[in-house]
Amino acid sequence: MNPSLSIYDNLGGAETIRRLVEAFYPKVQENPLLGPLFPEDIYPVMEKQYMFLSQFFGGPSLYSDAYGHPMMRARHLPFPVTPERADAWLGCMSAALTEIGIEEQLRELVLKRLSGPAFHFVNTTEE
Ligand code: HEM
Repeated sequence: MNPSLSIYDNLGGAETIRRLVEAFYPKVQENPLLGPLFPEDIYPVMEKQYMFLSQFFGGPSLYSDAYGHPMMRARHLPFPVTPERADAWLGCMSAALTEIGIEEQLRELVLKRLSGPAFHFVNTTEE
């Protein structure tokens, strides 16, 4: 890992973000806490996540260019995001990072950056 580069560049740019998203969503769909919240056709969500993570990690601002201000907490309000679901989401992300071969130090940094938003999106303690 090169600490003077963005996470985006450390990961290896667009191609790695794409592989990450493709490894992540099958895990989300299979997860009993997360799967039921997502539509059967997961491809539009994957595409938005690819665009969002690109900019979140310091790459091109694909999401904002297409959809405006992310307002991610607000966009999650229609869904019951519990602390257990935030844990599950981060667990799927951790497994996806391992699956695509991201080394431990970088994986830990990515997860740390995502855990702030994940718990910030919690909007209920109930199902
Ligand atoms: C904390 C647990 C989380 C849960 C349960 C969750 C769940 C969801 C659900 C149900 C959707 C909508 C799918 C649809 O279009 O029908 C969604 C969209 C999205 N989520 Fe999450 N999410 C979580 C955390 C995160 C985190 C940490 C990020 C990124 C930092 C994120 C980024 C996104 C993006 C970019 C979208 C697409 C937004 C759009 O429609 O433009 N989510 N999420």
